[in-house]
Amino acid sequence: MTATFSDATVERLIRISKEKPLLPEIFVPWHEQIREEDRFMPEHLISLQGHPLWDTLSPAQQRELGRHEVVQVMYSYAWSEGLACLFFNRHLLTLSPESVEYRFLLRELIEEFRHQEMFSAVVTKLEGKPVTPDFWHRFWGKWSVKNMPADCIFMSVLSVELMTDVYGKHIRRDERVSIILRKVSELHNIEEGRHIFYTKLWLERFTSKAGFFRRSWYSIIVLLNLYFMCTLYVKAEIFGRIGVQNPERYAQAASQNLKQKLGANCLEDAVEFVQGFQGFNWLTRPLWRWVMKVKVL
Ligand SMILES: [Fe+2]
Ligand SMILES: [Fe+2]
Repeated sequence: MTATFSDATVERLIRISKEKPLLPEIFVPWHEQIREEDRFMPEHLISLQGHPLWDTLSPAQQRELGRHEVVQVMYSYAWSEGLACLFFNRHLLTLSPESVEYRFLLRELIEEFRHQEMFSAVVTKLEGKPVTPDFWHRFWGKWSVKNMPADCIFMSVLSVELMTDVYGKHIRRDERVSIILRKVSELHNIEEGRHIFYTKLWLERFTSKAGFFRRSWYSIIVLLNLYFMCTLYVKAEIFGRIGVQNPERYAQAASQNLKQKLGANCLEDAVEFVQGFQGFNWLTRPLWRWVMKVKVL
C-alpha cells in the first residue's frame, strides 16, 4: 500500500460511504427461498472438510454442519462488531467532532450497525441457534475494548476485519452458496474494504515507529484475534446437533483441521499485514506456527 494517512484520503472515504451507501434491506434479496441444493458456505471453509472424519458424515449432515457454522460465523461477526462499536464510541470522545477521524468513525459506526442488523437477519433467516461465546471470551472482549490503548484495539479490529474479509471473498464467489449469503458477503466485503484501508493507514503512525517489543506485541494481538475467531466457529454442541456419536472428538478434529486450512490458504492478507510492520521475529514466528499453523519465514 502506497497511500498515507491524509485528510484528503479520509475525506474521499467519507464521501464514498455517503454517496454509495449499501443498505442491506435493498441489497440482499431476503425474499428468496433457500433451496434444497443451496449450500451455506463453500465446502472448503467448513471446519471438518478435508479431514477423514468428514467422510463419516452423510451429505445431509455435511450440509447441516455448513448451516450451523455459517450461523456461528455471522453471529461472531455481529458480536465482535458490537464490541468494536463500543470502542469506537469510546475513541470518539477523544476526538474533535469536525476532524476527519471523527467523521470517518461516524460513517464506520453507521455501517457497522447496519452490518450487525444484517447478520442478525441472516441468523433468523437460517433459523440458527448460535452457540454464544464462553465466559472468558466475553470477559476479555469487554475488558479490552474498555481498557486497552487505542492502537491495540484498532489492531484487534483490523485482525477481525481481515479474517471476515477472507470468508466474505470465498462465500461471495461460490455460486453454489445461497444468493442471500452471497449478497450479504458481497456487501460486507465492499464496506470492510474501506474500513481495512482506513485502519491500516491509521495504524501506520504506530507501526512505523514501533521497536522490537511493540512490533512483537502487535503481532501477538493479530494472532490471538485470529485464534479467538476460529474458536467461535467450531463447537462440540454443533456436532451433537447433527447427530454424531462423539461430538467432542469431532470438534477437536475440526478445530485442528480448520486452523491448518486457514493457515495454509486463508491468512495471506493477515500475514502480509504483519510482515508489513516486521511483526515476525524469533519470538513471534514460533507462536504463529504453533497457534495458527501458519508457515512464516
Ligand atoms: Fe462490518
Ligand atoms: Fe468494519
